[in-house]
Amino acid sequence: MPVRFAEEHELGRVNELRKQVNDLHVAGKPEIFKPGFPKELADHIYTIWNDPDQRIVVNERNGAICGFAVLHHIRRPETPFMFERDYLDVDEFCVDEACRRTGVATELIGFIRTYAKAEGFDRVELNMWEFNRDALAFYEAVGFTTYRRYMEMKL
Ligand SMILES: CC(C)(COP(=O)(O)OP(=O)(O)OC[C@H]1O[C@@H](n2cnc3c(N)ncnc32)[C@H](O)[C@@H]1OP(=O)(O)O)[C@@H](O)C(=O)NCCC(=O)NCCS
Repeated sequence: MPVRFAEEHELGRVNELRKQVNDLHVAGKPEIFKPGFPKELADHIYTIWNDPDQRIVVNERNGAICGFAVLHHIRRPETPFMFERDYLDVDEFCVDEACRRTGVATELIGFIRTYAKAEGFDRVELNMWEFNRDALAFYEAVGFTTYRRYMEMKL
């Protein structure tokens, strides 16, 4: 099956894709994102790997990992404003530049939807940076809608 959970020996390849996302974020929001791909950021994949609330999904085509997603089970207690929240968050998401527009990300989302339903979630969430119009076009194409915004005023 092309879309499946990652194996530990594949985390190095997942990091190559994570670097592509970081480079994109650095280019789009250089005042926020740190350039390069330091060891600390590379090692963070093992924090994810060892966290029982997080899972890494990969899409393999022709024997190579060409896309991945990090799924994070989030539980937020009730507050004076909000009910308790329990949902599946897509924390990181990328398809290799060389494989884009061939349905790799759509297959990943299909897997995530099926998994989330089977696990009893009623919602999948994610957040993204406003400059990333390609990601927005993709997420909207597969059915995500915007329900909340972060805004800023540059001074
Ligand atoms: C966004 C991203 C995940 C899309 O992956 P992908 O595998 O190319 O997407 P798909 O091939 O499944 O695209 C499905 C549909 O989404 C839409 N879509 C995808 N990329 C698009 C783009 N760059 N511009 C406009 N629409 C796009 C299209 O409707 C597309 O269907 P089509 O190709 O038949 O027109 C990929 O561009 C990527 O990894 N970008 C860099 C990392 C990133 O931004 N990650 C998300 C934020 S952290």
